[in-house]
Amino acid sequence: MPSFKLLLLPGDGIGPEVMAEVKRLLAWFEKRGIAAFDYDERLVGGSSYDADGVAITDSTMDLAHAADAVLFGAVGGPKWDGVPYEVRPEAGLLRLRKDLGLFANLRPAICYPALAESSSLKRDLVEGLDIMIVRELTGGVYFGEPKTITDLGNGQKRAIDSQVYDTYEIERIARVAFDLARKRRNKVTSTEKRNVMKSGVLWNEVVTAVHKREYPDVELEHQLADACGMQLVRRPKQFDVIVCDNLFGDMLSDIAAMLTGSLGMLPSASLGEANPATGKRKAMYEPVHGSAPDIAGKGLANPLAMIGSFGMALRYSFNLSDAADLLDQATANVLAKGLRTGDIAAPGQATVGTTAMGDAILAELDALAG
Ligand code: NAD
Ligand code: IPM
Ligand code: MN
Repeated sequence: MPSFKLLLLPGDGIGPEVMAEVKRLLAWFEKRGIAAFDYDERLVGGSSYDADGVAITDSTMDLAHAADAVLFGAVGGPKWDGVPYEVRPEAGLLRLRKDLGLFANLRPAICYPALAESSSLKRDLVEGLDIMIVRELTGGVYFGEPKTITDLGNGQKRAIDSQVYDTYEIERIARVAFDLARKRRNKVTSTEKRNVMKSGVLWNEVVTAVHKREYPDVELEHQLADACGMQLVRRPKQFDVIVCDNLFGDMLSDIAAMLTGSLGMLPSASLGEANPATGKRKAMYEPVHGSAPDIAGKGLANPLAMIGSFGMALRYSFNLSDAADLLDQATANVLAKGLRTGDIAAPGQATVGTTAMGDAILAELDALAG
């Protein structure tokens, strides 16, 4: 049986609640002889700040570098609103992404047939929806310098965030998008704001050049990012793969979440460059949602985004696509049987909590695996 080394970072709020369900899955896959998982578990975000004064410690970073994959829950919450910017909970997540070189964030938005009624859009607009948002994750305005607030001395302050992209950063994320499109419906929509941003001009130019040189067989279209947001809620099934910068990807993926029913449904994979010798990539798997302070501690969180993120680890890091398919099927079946956490329930529909949803997935896995 193959064996993998994991680092689990449950984090804050609902992070530990949804991670608990993934831990039960790790045990199930091991019991069934599919894979063995050797894991460490550490603090990240606000809980790390409370214990160690930083959002992630150097020793936890060392474990992240050494792991075959990191599983990340969520960080943040009102408790840490006043902490210094450098050590705020979100800084732990950003350090993981940057230091591990996780430039490619894959955010699939799939509308399970049973959830077409849970979307805020009409059924016929979302039924069968399967979009892949490819978000650049280690550049752009998240990390560009200067990034400052300066006191101008006249009662005014000036805040600067810098949107910075180099050619190689756009080339490598474009290749990820085109490669994925070739295995899907062969279409890439590249989105930026070249009408107001220099980085948008370069983004458009580089994606166009990579397409012409390396992927002429893939259909490429360009949409301005504001129009892309509009098209996502107007006619979402026009999209196959959407490639965009860090900030637009953050926003477009939360919009896409509502097409699938809830933010609690959207998984993601954050991937680094493949090592040319081994083919292995650094990787972290993280739901798109946050720590959900409004429902934290109540056992109400939907664990399916976290479970789906583990499914992406099976597929992208462990080469266990049969196991990933099995987990996706279990999820589809559980939803088809009508099980709903509060976020995906139709008005008046009965709801279950986080653990009961996890129980149902495990029971379905048992049924499918025989
Ligand atoms: P959020 O994603 O935490 O919550 C937005 C809404 O979606 C809330 O109403 C919440 O209850 C609901 N929701 C989210 N996940 C859910 C789930 N699994 N099941 C059911 N409902 C769910 O976003 P927010 O409220 O804007 O941010 C709260 C905190 O989380 C902030 O500190 C933010 O910085 C942080 N955050 C962290 C991450 C991360 O760790 N990856 C991602 C986004 C936001
Ligand atoms: C996400 C989150 C993060 C981001 C925050 C918590 C730093 O919103 O993963 O979508 O903006 O990337
Ligand atoms: Mn976000």
